[in-house]
Amino acid sequence: MQLLDGKLLSENIKAELAAEVDQIKLKGGKIPHLAAVLIGDNPASQVYVNSKIKSCEQIGFTSTMVRRSGDVSEEEVLEIVANLNNDPDVDGFIVQLPLPKHIDEEKIMLAIDYRKDVDGFHPVNFGRMAQGMPAFLPATPFGILEMLRRYNIETSGKHCVVLGRSNIVGTPISILLSRKGYPGDCTVTLTHSRTQDLPAEVRRADIVVAAIGIPQFVKGDWVKEGAVVIDVGINRIPDASRKSGSRLVGDVDFDSVAPRCSHITPVPGGVGLMTVTALLMNTLKACRKEIY
Ligand code: GUN
Repeated sequence: MQLLDGKLLSENIKAELAAEVDQIKLKGGKIPHLAAVLIGDNPASQVYVNSKIKSCEQIGFTSTMVRRSGDVSEEEVLEIVANLNNDPDVDGFIVQLPLPKHIDEEKIMLAIDYRKDVDGFHPVNFGRMAQGMPAFLPATPFGILEMLRRYNIETSGKHCVVLGRSNIVGTPISILLSRKGYPGDCTVTLTHSRTQDLPAEVRRADIVVAAIGIPQFVKGDWVKEGAVVIDVGINRIPDASRKSGSRLVGDVDFDSVAPRCSHITPVPGGVGLMTVTALLMNTLKACRKEIY
């Protein structure tokens, strides 16, 4: 069993991006600039946004954080989005989800200029991705593809079972892995809460992508010997043996699944770090106007 080391890969990619920034500086070009909008005090969102901003600093990108309390009005968030859309120095930006209940996430996502949508959530980017046109790919699926590519994992003709049909992970990764070319050409099964006999579906998988948000859900006896397992889950569970009283686990029961796999992503240290890195790759593409 080989660990798919998201920490190592993301460090390698960040070093490549930092070298690109050095080249840009030498030539007097524009430094990539990512902005992040954080609303409210969801602890996980704070951790994610801080990690995105810190990564920008590490590689020499410019970053801006726009923070508002959870009682901000929808109008004000729309105004923040409009300002970022119109700011020529900002190459790309994200609005961290989830948003407070009184704010319509769909309305906010639609208000983002798709040419700055480095999260790849806007329907223009999603539609272009689905049709194989140049687009900002959603960060987590893009990070997974990069991981498969850099570990040279064979995907052609493989049966991939995706657990979870969210707009930001399950649905886009199922589309991307079924596309022509590498990494892709998979036969994909997209499973969800109404799937009958989920363990039987997972047992047919050469590649499993778990993105359902239920801690340690996928068990060892569901997984075929030699499968590749990509665990997208980041769940905090109680653990009395830790000083903090809790620890992070994925959607996969690592201890029972890992011995059966050819490759598996750890949590933490797997897909999560690749998501941040993919966002940085998208920001460079936005700065270079590679997509639009
Ligand atoms: N919430 C959970 N994942 C993400 C992400 O990738 N981007 C944004 N904006 N919000 C999220």
